[in-house]
Amino acid sequence: MKVTINEFRLPRAGALVVGVLEKGEMLATAKAVDKKSGGTLSRAMAASRFEGKKGQWLDVLAPAGTKYDRVLLAGLGKADKIDALTLEAVGGGAVGRLQSSGAQTLTVASDAIAGAKPGRDEMAARLVFGATLGGYRFDKYRTRQKPEQKPSLKSVSVIVKGATAARRAYRPLAAAGEGVFLTRDLVSEPANVLFPDDLAKRCRALVADGVKVQVLGEPQMQRLGMGALLGVGQGSVRDSRLVVMRWQGAGGRAKPVAFVGKGVCFDTGGISIKPAGGMEDMKWDMGGAGVVIGLMKALARRKAKVDAIGVVALVENMPSAMAQRPGDVVTSMSGQTIEVINTDAEGRLVLADALWYTQQRFKPRFMVDLATLTGAMIVALGHEYAGVFANDDELAERLSAAGKAEGEGIWRLPMGEAYDKQIRSDIADVKNVGAGRGAGSIVGAQFLQRFVNDVPWAHLDIAGVTWSREAKPTVPKGGTGWGVRTLDRLVAQHYEGK
Ligand code: BES
Ligand code: MN
Ligand code: ZN
Repeated sequence: MKVTINEFRLPRAGALVVGVLEKGEMLATAKAVDKKSGGTLSRAMAASRFEGKKGQWLDVLAPAGTKYDRVLLAGLGKADKIDALTLEAVGGGAVGRLQSSGAQTLTVASDAIAGAKPGRDEMAARLVFGATLGGYRFDKYRTRQKPEQKPSLKSVSVIVKGATAARRAYRPLAAAGEGVFLTRDLVSEPANVLFPDDLAKRCRALVADGVKVQVLGEPQMQRLGMGALLGVGQGSVRDSRLVVMRWQGAGGRAKPVAFVGKGVCFDTGGISIKPAGGMEDMKWDMGGAGVVIGLMKALARRKAKVDAIGVVALVENMPSAMAQRPGDVVTSMSGQTIEVINTDAEGRLVLADALWYTQQRFKPRFMVDLATLTGAMIVALGHEYAGVFANDDELAERLSAAGKAEGEGIWRLPMGEAYDKQIRSDIADVKNVGAGRGAGSIVGAQFLQRFVNDVPWAHLDIAGVTWSREAKPTVPKGGTGWGVRTLDRLVAQHYEGK
């Protein structure tokens, strides 16, 4: 599906989306079509209790006196409450409604709205962004779809007065969208296809966008002393990898910002094996790595003026004769020894070495790690917010604010000595699970913090937001790409050209 921005010229036929404010106040294009159709839209609104509330839709088929197949009325709510996310939801909602409707083309009228915060260019750009994000599909493994099941919509045209300026406003969003799509693709890919070496190859593809990519194999990691990461991967026939991606948009001389991702390509739990029901979800246990890779793509595509490092730790957590056992003690790159009580708490083990490596090698301005780390995160926050844990208030606040602006909720949880006590081991420096039953996500964060020195650091537990079972206007079912937009904004707002 192609989405384009074009100069405002109202088509006479096809499918059309028009905006309506609260209390049924039509925007210019809706008014014009209503007039042309002898008041058909007004009557349809009255007959259906459609009031132009935010999120309301009304599909008027074949309105009299026009050649339109359908005119979709999109409720926008109060003009002064309209923001970028409102418009994205309109773009995405329209595509969601029409994608398999039989319509092949769709025109979205981007009218001026008196009193709305976003300007005209921004509005059109956000409509396009929403339509693009909402039109995402992961269809590569469907080979037997009947024609009527296949998406019919081929192109969406957002029409606006001043298309050139709107196209310019869309450019950085297009880059973010490419990043989100890459993340969604990776997260949705099954684990027989996307194992560590394959995922490393997909990182390598970013070279085409100007990203420097270095792939470390097991012998190199062995030499670096990454016993925690390698211990997790040792039960798999697939070799582990650590991939370092570097985007040097600021010349590569300043301290970089760094992002670290958990890339467990499949998490069976290992010898502490998981129950069968729902285990297929663990193909997306590389979601943190997926976000880091998508983010690097987004930064490179918009040529962000920042030096950014992306490190992803790629392993497969399998039970086998070679697998790590509960009770094993491994030595991490930091020198700290870890008693592995539960082989299913593997994400923190791979991140321990990835965080330490990133901090030692790059001395970054900050590190943000992303991980589908704990099921307890879903118990705490469900699928609406990701949890953030940090040793730095400013970084935590910046992340939360960026998330809010991008429609990706982030909620901070506490850390502290009292929680840290839980991971004291009787025979090693630390153990990988807590003694008690509560606060599982915080205990995971405490474990990670033991592998971070003075550098500002934040840990995003994205277990609840990486995968969606319920389609939203801009986020179809499946891999969400959650986090790419927020981190892209974090970089753009605070760390570019600074
Ligand atoms: N990958 C899982 C966490 C997870 C669960 C992510 C469900 C997404 C959905 C992680 O490796 C794990 O197994 N965590 C354990 C930790 C426990 C053993 C301390 C968990 O959450 O049960
Ligand atoms: Mn696990
Ligand atoms: Zn896991």
